[in-house]
Amino acid sequence: MEVIKTVERMQAFSLKNRAQDKSIGFVPTMGALHQGHLELVKQAVGENDTVVCSIFVNPIQFNNLNDLKKYPRTLDKDLQLLSSVGCNTVFAPDVDEMYPEPVTKTYDFGMLDKVMEGRYRSGHFNGVAIVVKKLFDFVLPHSAYFGQKDFQQLAIIRELVKMENLDLNIVACPTIREADGLAMSSRNVRLTEEQRQHAPLIYRALKKASELYKTKPVQEVRDFVADTINQNPQMRLEYFEICHSRSLQFIGKSKPEEPVVACIAVHMGEVRLIDNIFLKL
Ligand code: PAJ
Repeated sequence: MEVIKTVERMQAFSLKNRAQDKSIGFVPTMGALHQGHLELVKQAVGENDTVVCSIFVNPIQFNNLNDLKKYPRTLDKDLQLLSSVGCNTVFAPDVDEMYPEPVTKTYDFGMLDKVMEGRYRSGHFNGVAIVVKKLFDFVLPHSAYFGQKDFQQLAIIRELVKMENLDLNIVACPTIREADGLAMSSRNVRLTEEQRQHAPLIYRALKKASELYKTKPVQEVRDFVADTINQNPQMRLEYFEICHSRSLQFIGKSKPEEPVVACIAVHMGEVRLIDNIFLKL
C-alpha cells in the first residue's frame, strides 16, 4: 500500500502512469470507509489499470463545526479495507497541503446548489466543488466514481466537469444499503441503538412513495412521506422533494416524461441522514 501525502508525489505518480498509457480510476472519499465506498472502489478496480482512492476530511464543505469535529477518522482500518479490494494507492493529504492559501473561489451552479442540500447547508457544494477540482488536478484520473447516494453532489460534479471543460469520465454507482434498507453512511455509527432501529423507516417511506407515485397525485406522495417521517418521534424531516433528475427542478402537479427522483433529509438527534430514490427512470 502506497500512501501519498503530497501534491507533488501524487502528480508524479499519475503522470508516470499516464506516460505508460495506464488508465487511472479515482474514488474520492472522506474516509471512515464502509461497503458503499468499497463498491465504488471495486468497480474502479474492474475498469482501470490503476486506482487511486483519496481520503481527506474536507473542512470547507462542513457548515457545522460539530459535524466536522465528530466526523469519524479511521485511517488504518480504511487502508486495510482498500487493500482487501485491490486498491493500493491512497492520496491522504493534510489540510495545509490541500489549502496552502485561503480559499476564495466561488462557483455558480445556478439552481443546482440552491435547493435541498444547498438550501440547508450553505456553502457546502462550493466546498465540495473546490476540493474535487483540486483532487482531479492532482490525481489526473481518466474516470472518477461517485455514489448516487449523494444525488445532488453527483449533479454538481457533472456540472463542474462541464464548466471547467475537464477531460474525464464521471461514473455514477448505485446506493449500497444495509440489509434493512438503511443507506450506508459514515454517519450511521453516530446513531444511538434506538435511532438505528428506527432509521430504516426512511427508505421504507421512499419505496412506498415510488409505489404511490405511479397512481396518486404528486401532493399525496409528498404528504405521505412528510407524515410518515414526522410521526416518528426519533425523526425530524428537513426536506422531501420530488424533482427532475438532471436539473433538480422540483416538479409541479403534472408528472413529467423525463426521469424523476425523490430526495430526502432527516434529522435523528445530532445526525443528519440523506437518501433518494428514482420515482421514474
Ligand atoms: P464521502 O461521504 O466519504 O463519500 C465518498 C463517495 O462514496 C461519494 O461519491 C458518495 O456518494 C459515495 N457513497 C457514500 N455512501 C454510499 C453508499 N451507501 N452507496 C454508494 N455510494 C456511497 O462524498 C464525499 O465523501 C465528499 O463530499 C467528497 C466527494 C469526497 C468531497 O470531499
